[in-house]
Amino acid sequence: MDVEMSPHGSIRVEAVRKTFSKRDKPALAGVDLRVGSGRVCALLGANGAGKTTLVRILTTLTGMDSGTVRVNGWDVDRDPARVRASIGVVGQYAALDEVLSARENLELFARLIGLSRTSARSRAATLLEQAGLSEHGGQKVSGFSGGMRRRLDLMTSMITSPAVLLIDEPTTGLDPIARRTIWNMVRSLVDEGTTVLLTTQYLEEADELADDVVILREGSVVATGTPSDLKALVGEPRMELREPTLEDVYLHLHQGGDAA
Ligand SMILES: Nc1ncnc2c1ncn2[C@@H]1O[C@H](COP(=O)(O)OP(=O)(O)OP(=O)(O)O)[C@@H](O)[C@H]1O
Ligand SMILES: [Mg+2]
Repeated sequence: MDVEMSPHGSIRVEAVRKTFSKRDKPALAGVDLRVGSGRVCALLGANGAGKTTLVRILTTLTGMDSGTVRVNGWDVDRDPARVRASIGVVGQYAALDEVLSARENLELFARLIGLSRTSARSRAATLLEQAGLSEHGGQKVSGFSGGMRRRLDLMTSMITSPAVLLIDEPTTGLDPIARRTIWNMVRSLVDEGTTVLLTTQYLEEADELADDVVILREGSVVATGTPSDLKALVGEPRMELREPTLEDVYLHLHQGGDAA
């Protein structure tokens, strides 16, 4: 079967417009975007660019004014239930229950989507191990760091191994080491064949993870290409002209250090 032609694991966004209020500029002013099966697309944009709005439309949580969106071949307007059943979503803000332990959170999500008690338990154990959180499985999420939450959040959306995973700002607010851990988790999902659309405010993150980058600005796509295309556009980084970042400091302190 021609993988390129299969709608399974693909995303097609055509001429999507979304306005929240008549007085304001549209949040999305006619957006086109395609993600092929097994690829990683980074939607790169500043605060308010429209990233979360587009992700919410893809998840069927928000309606659009006009345009067409297909996820896994299903139309979000005509087959919203099928779209929802075929995707995993990691929101910008964690959707975890604070008073439950990490393991209980995973088991709860697994039970909610219909796994038996035994299957839920074994799936939770596997995912905790993949996220490097086995030792913290019994700990309440309220005591988790931002990086641990993000990892657990990613795992809750992987309970059913969806063909398409949507991740809204996977690493915003995390320290460089936690970011690398998340990046590695996303990479292993991609190795298993998951198609990923992620949003980010960091060129570096797009460069690390994405096959294709789409730059969104004030609701419009202003550039698309591979990370190298876009870096060529920006020009070679001039190290001596750049302010050192927290990341540089960490790299010096943690050369070869394990991400945990
Ligand atoms: N529920 C809403 N009601 C009214 N306006 C909204 C709503 N959601 C988003 N907007 C507006 O739509 C625009 C795009 O917002 P969106 O949240 O999609 O941006 P974003 O790229 O995700 O930004 P951030 O990086 O801050 O998360 C913004 O101008 C925002 O104020
Ligand atoms: Mg957002």
